[in-house]
Amino acid sequence: MTRTTDRTLLVTGIAELVTGDAARPTIERAAFVVEDGRVGWVGPEAGAPAADASYDAGGRAVIPGFVDSHSHLVFAGDRSGEFAARMAGESYAAGGIRSTVRSTRAASDEELRAHVARLVAEMRRQGTTTLEIKSGYGLSVEDEARSLAIARAFTDETTFLGAHVVPEGTSAEDYVALVTGAMLEAACPHARWIDAFCEHGAFDADQARAVLAAGEAAGLRGRLHANQLTYGPGVQLACELGLVAVDHCTYLSDADVDALAQSGTVATLLPGVEFSTRHPYVDARRLIDAGVRVALASDCNPGSCFTSSLPFCIALAVRDMGMTPTEAVLAATAGGAAALDRTDVGRLTVGARADFAVLDAPSHVHLAYRPGVPLVAETWRGGVRD
Ligand code: NIG
Ligand code: FE
Repeated sequence: MTRTTDRTLLVTGIAELVTGDAARPTIERAAFVVEDGRVGWVGPEAGAPAADASYDAGGRAVIPGFVDSHSHLVFAGDRSGEFAARMAGESYAAGGIRSTVRSTRAASDEELRAHVARLVAEMRRQGTTTLEIKSGYGLSVEDEARSLAIARAFTDETTFLGAHVVPEGTSAEDYVALVTGAMLEAACPHARWIDAFCEHGAFDADQARAVLAAGEAAGLRGRLHANQLTYGPGVQLACELGLVAVDHCTYLSDADVDALAQSGTVATLLPGVEFSTRHPYVDARRLIDAGVRVALASDCNPGSCFTSSLPFCIALAVRDMGMTPTEAVLAATAGGAAALDRTDVGRLTVGARADFAVLDAPSHVHLAYRPGVPLVAETWRGGVRD
């Protein structure tokens, strides 16, 4: 790195740095240099170079900013009654999505934008620096396009999820034709990804395949909701198509696990959904031991899981899914980046964006060891504190 400008910042006083580098995932008594918003140098503090300015983390841990690769933030309305009913014994049904569709269609652009802004701010306070946002509560040409346009103002990682459920008043066949036709055309300028909910009660494998094929032909990249509520064909479809990520993966056969391990498709696990729907937690140990790449994400949405907190998801993954604290933090950082096919975020290695969180704790283990405690003290993006 060059040291001739006033643009370099040396971050010192780091009790433990999570780098996300496979060869050296953590460094104690570490430092790093930010140059033009990116990491220019990283290593033990004793060997740190000079810089134009410095920042002392005060003996706390620093981790890469979380990469939340799965959220549904563009919505209106409240389904806390549905959650309370589930906690009293009812089961989760995908049909609840339609009630959010009614509320979302009735909301103004400004209301939707303000709601997304509030949730994004909530995520930032909890250490998330990169996030994906899906549409999927509009389900008409206009409402899907405006949902994505609103999402795009907050992130480049936007996903067209017109194939969320079949809306009231139309047949599945007609609706798939709309999603793959006029709706896709209207969504395309605002989206990077295309997704479908491949599940009993939503879309079957042939319909999901048609949606993904149309999206890819239009220049979007595919990802999939699959095997959330029961066993099904979605995970193997995602692997067969070589999708970057397949999300939920709650009900997995041995053949599904083999397909994931062989394909390299990232399995994005969403433990907040299991928490909020009382479905079983995924055995992440089984996946990791089989060689599957896993990510952790929030799935923040009003129905199956209304948390914006990756620290909460990490604590669940450690307590109930067989992940070590280090595996869980890496899954919510570098894993999330892999699920978005990004190498510039989710790690603090030379060349990566200087997106990080300073914890009120001496190590990343505290994220699971102290569940529910707001340990993210500071969130920095591109070397600038939020
Ligand atoms: O990822 N699975 C489908 N979609 C959301 C839930 C949406 C809802 O219930 O409103 C999910 O869990
Ligand atoms: Fe989802």
